[in-house]
Amino acid sequence: MLVARRCSALARGLPLRRAFASKAGPCDAYLAVTHPDGSASSASQVSQTLSRFDESTLATYSRPTVLLTRGKGLDLYAKVDASTEPSGSSERRYLDFSSGIAVNSLGHADGEIAKIAGEQAGLLVHSSNLYHNEWSGELADRMVQLTRQHGGLGMPKGDPDNKAHQLKVFLANSGTEANEAALKFARKYAMVTSNAQPGEKSGLVSFQNAFHGRTMGALSMTPAPKYQAPFAPLIPNVRTGVYNDVSQLDTLIDDKTAGVIVEPIQGEGGIFPATHEFLLALRKRCDEVGALLMYDEIQCGLFRSGTLWCHSELPVEAHPDLVTMAKPLANGFPIGAVLMKKKVADAIAVGDHGTTFGGGPLTSRIAHHVLGRLSSPELVSNIESSSEHLLERLTALRHHFSDLIAHDEHKPSPRGRGLLVGVSMKEPSHAGKMVKLARERGLIVLSAGSDTVRIAPSLIVTKEQVDEAIDVLESCFLVLRGET
Ligand SMILES: Cc1ncc(COP(=O)(O)O)c(C=O)c1O
Repeated sequence: MLVARRCSALARGLPLRRAFASKAGPCDAYLAVTHPDGSASSASQVSQTLSRFDESTLATYSRPTVLLTRGKGLDLYAKVDASTEPSGSSERRYLDFSSGIAVNSLGHADGEIAKIAGEQAGLLVHSSNLYHNEWSGELADRMVQLTRQHGGLGMPKGDPDNKAHQLKVFLANSGTEANEAALKFARKYAMVTSNAQPGEKSGLVSFQNAFHGRTMGALSMTPAPKYQAPFAPLIPNVRTGVYNDVSQLDTLIDDKTAGVIVEPIQGEGGIFPATHEFLLALRKRCDEVGALLMYDEIQCGLFRSGTLWCHSELPVEAHPDLVTMAKPLANGFPIGAVLMKKKVADAIAVGDHGTTFGGGPLTSRIAHHVLGRLSSPELVSNIESSSEHLLERLTALRHHFSDLIAHDEHKPSPRGRGLLVGVSMKEPSHAGKMVKLARERGLIVLSAGSDTVRIAPSLIVTKEQVDEAIDVLESCFLVLRGET
């Protein structure tokens, strides 16, 4: 990475703004491939190991020949063959601006989390939900208290003593399971609170371009043919609306609707924020017909967009009845959760829903710790300043590469909030190409939707790391321009 650090080192040596402002054009220090996918030789040890793994592993993802072994902060390390690596080293560093798809908000291999995990593993990992444990209740309590403080679920920000709104938490193991629970809760709530015949008020609504997960219920709310088609028929009574279109809501949502699920910022779909007008109208229409409004904040929640809940910044008139979360909650340990208003919780009886692993003491204790760290004022202010710097650099990038980057009122680039940001390419196939070009130069970013490069670093990211990442991207754009 010696040559490759030139632009970033420049930024480090001078006050950031001056260093950046003084740069005439895009950084060209990363034009050469330093991190080739795979190895120079198919006979290499890494290639052989991965070929052996492939023989017994179901391929559900298309993966490069890269074998990750460890991480630290935003750095990820892959095992390589020292004999073919130009540096002669047996490992290679990547800068991770994906945080494991918006998961590792506190970075990789966090020392405190490792300590807590080790300690709890030596005490109690699992004891089933037939008994109480010391940590699932603490986690639920912290989540509710933080929501009182930061705002959400109908409570304005900064009212920690507000006891008028009671909230309850259900703990699961993944995002799709959190959504699965939410959909079941919506149907049960409709059954308990309406005079409809059983099953009559069971309609569920989601929106085009949404991603809610891969289990049968959540998949039914994810209206992308590529995900749904192989598994039809899906669950009945599901409608799909147009995201951000207020005019359709009266017909889309009616008195047979049990629940509406929406991402306040669509993540997998390409980083599209919902308008306040749309979310306000959704809330109003759900109230008119007695349907639950459910926000899927699995990707955009838990401070990724800068606030505890993405909806914390909205007026309470746009808040949901429940919110689902997962990815960063335990910084990579599998977990999912539903935070709901009391009226929803009251509709769910003992035995209606359950889980073997959800709420186990190991994951709950880690999530309790993670929530405490994510909500610290230092981290929140780091998200704000790093996000501002990231958007500033990406806006300059867009100006440098207006021939390659799409930018109009429907698809502004860059877009998003906090540290969930997208840049759309004029030629859709260039998004995947950019992900590969960046990886081959030691930077991991994601694609999203049909044409978007998605940037979602850990929330501990520094301005210097932002500079390094955008310097690499600038070089990648130069390479791409040269190839087109
Ligand atoms: C908004 C959203 N909902 C649900 C899911 C599904 O979560 P999981 O993969 O943990 O099941 C995802 C995953 O990307 C997501 O981004």
